[in-house]
Amino acid sequence: MRIFLAPMEGVVDHHMRRVMQVIGGVDIYVTEFVRVCDHTLPRKVFIKYSPELTQAQPKIPTRIQLLGSNPEALALSARKAAKLGAPAIDLNFGCPAKTVNRNRGGACLLDDTDLIYQIVSQVREQVPPSIPVTAKIRLGYQERDSYLRNAQAIEQAGANELIVHARSKQDGYNPPAYWKYIGEIKQAVKIPVVANGEIWNLKDFIQCREESLCEDFMLGRGLLAHPDLAKEIKAYCQGHEYTPMPWSEIAQHLHQFFLETCAAYPKKYTGNRAKQWLHYLSRHYTEAAALFESIKKTRDFSIIDTALKNHYS
Ligand SMILES: Cc1cc2nc3c(=O)[nH]c(=O)nc-3n(C[C@H](O)[C@H](O)[C@H](O)COP(=O)(O)O)c2cc1C
Repeated sequence: MRIFLAPMEGVVDHHMRRVMQVIGGVDIYVTEFVRVCDHTLPRKVFIKYSPELTQAQPKIPTRIQLLGSNPEALALSARKAAKLGAPAIDLNFGCPAKTVNRNRGGACLLDDTDLIYQIVSQVREQVPPSIPVTAKIRLGYQERDSYLRNAQAIEQAGANELIVHARSKQDGYNPPAYWKYIGEIKQAVKIPVVANGEIWNLKDFIQCREESLCEDFMLGRGLLAHPDLAKEIKAYCQGHEYTPMPWSEIAQHLHQFFLETCAAYPKKYTGNRAKQWLHYLSRHYTEAAALFESIKKTRDFSIIDTALKNHYS
């Protein structure tokens, strides 16, 4: 079984990926989507989204996700990303954002199976065979109706793996996720299928596994809310007892994340990333909710720094 950390634009950057790697349990990471218009992207764009490309070994295994609708530009950009050392290329056919869809990218392509096929096959042709090409879809655009034809087209176009977010674009991020549709896909294709959507705890995982018939899972908001969920899931699958990570340990990671992101982002955004993560953590830890309330209105580095430190020292 593999666990993936979901790509999340504006949330899961390389700082977050590093924290998750230190906490453990995640096998595969994916960058935020990198938008490709009509040209091959320059090296610096790939390095910005995936500084992991320049890391010494062992690198955090981070796939590069591309989003766009121009097969040729996507294919040439994918080839470049592979040349720069991306361990795999993922193609985004699930983003619901209006600006993205207006420019014919992301989820709106779910209604154009032929174009999905063209994109995947041209990308597959340009990327060396040793580098997997994967695709991430939703169940459909307005309705949950295009998942089987898109999954089959993606497989026929030569993709090595398919990640399915078990909702339509219209469903947004609202519960529930429709895992049983992933099970239908799983039975219709031979390539590995990764189940995604609404796994917040072990119980959700067990039900998702049962309905999706999958062996691989991608966790997004659930892992941000409960950062050792991947470890808990793996312990459960291996039949081991699991002792949950105490809040003090999470708080220590949060503090380190705060320091790193303060150094990396402009001063006017001081604390924003840490508060954003804290907001997700509040769903699982009562301490996080109280901490969030106490710092949500301040941008003062030392106030936030002290508040975070107080939670573990
Ligand atoms: C803030 C946010 C940003 C996201 N950005 C991306 C993205 O860049 N690429 C992508 O494929 N999916 C993106 N997603 C979708 C997630 O990868 C995932 O499919 C979705 O959140 C469902 O999984 P979850 O219920 O485990 O969070 C994003 C989701 C959220 C909430």
